Amino acid sequence: MRTIDWVDGAVEIIDQTALPGRLTVLRLTTVEQLVTAIQRLAVRGAPALGVAGALGVALAARRSTDPAAAVRLLETARPTAVNLAWGARRAAARLPEGAEAVLAEALAIRDEEIEASAAMATRGADLLVELCGARPRLLTHCNTGALATVVGGTALGAVLELHRRDALGTVVASETRPLLQGARLTAWELGRAGVTYRVAVDGAGPFLMARGEVDAVVLGADRICANGDVINKIGSYAHALGAHRAGIPFVVVAPESTVDLATPSGADVEIEDRGAEEVLSADRLPALGGQPPVPGGGPDAGSAGPDDQSTGPDAGSAGWATLDAVNPAFDVTPHELVTAIVTDRRVIRLDRGERV
Ligand code: MRU
Repeated sequence: MRTIDWVDGAVEIIDQTALPGRLTVLRLTTVEQLVTAIQRLAVRGAPALGVAGALGVALAARRSTDPAAAVRLLETARPTAVNLAWGARRAAARLPEGAEAVLAEALAIRDEEIEASAAMATRGADLLVELCGARPRLLTHCNTGALATVVGGTALGAVLELHRRDALGTVVASETRPLLQGARLTAWELGRAGVTYRVAVDGAGPFLMARGEVDAVVLGADRICANGDVINKIGSYAHALGAHRAGIPFVVVAPESTVDLATPSGADVEIEDRGAEEVLSADRLPALGGQPPVPGGGPDAGSAGPDDQSTGPDAGSAGWATLDAVNPAFDVTPHELVTAIVTDRRVIRLDRGERV
């Protein structure tokens, strides 16, 4: 089953917000529907976003009266993963040739990502064994499997390839706060593949490394800058620091479509801030028995303006700080902390001074 595809004139996606509870397919027939799906992370992960951007332009070419406006909507739906704008622009370049040419380009991008996943799985698995020896014990972050691509995956593709070779030690899925792409999605994919795994809270990663329980960190990227800085899901940088301190490899697996030579360094990348609600709202932590995760956090927490201090039973008298949160969805791992980047075409050993 494909995470995203073109089916009978529409874009079909697996709704990742419904997992792991329900496996649901959404059929999207307009660019507006697709943009909403991208923004609420029903479809997510850099390579899948590249395909979404391109297929969105194919929708626009067929149905929109103003395809150029639709392309702008698509390429700016989320700012950080370079694949989204890259996919949309590559398909848009065929607009003058007509709708069928645009669709052909979008399907070519889809097929290239499928091929790239297969190549990364082999190359990534080989490198992990080379760096760590037989049966490596791995920690991964966010979701980089089939759900983040079309089929296969990037970093998780390499983990699954080791499993297929019966060469995997253990795997820890870092839960990935606040939207739990690791705990919900990576764990779901590992389970379906028959891989035994453990989920850990994000903050446990560096400690597990310090305690000698992890041989390497392997994760994906939303953008790889010209100097080798890696932009990936928030929490990746902490794992990189932990790996550096523990003296273990930090390996990034991403397709060439994620390499962005036009962006010099991580400092030049717009990091998406997804707003307070994802961090503050109640109902997200069942273990708390309905208690809000922060004072005043309720179902609508974070939706009020930053100056609104009226939320909560005794707001004001308790002297609560303004109910707000900072929620960067990604971080920057400086290239000095990256051992190697594996793409579908090459292995770049940053630890040996090789350049992107
Ligand atoms: O916010 P998300 O879920 O789209 O973030 C995804 C990630 O950060 C992934 O690690 C990255 O896109 C690589 S996916 C192969």
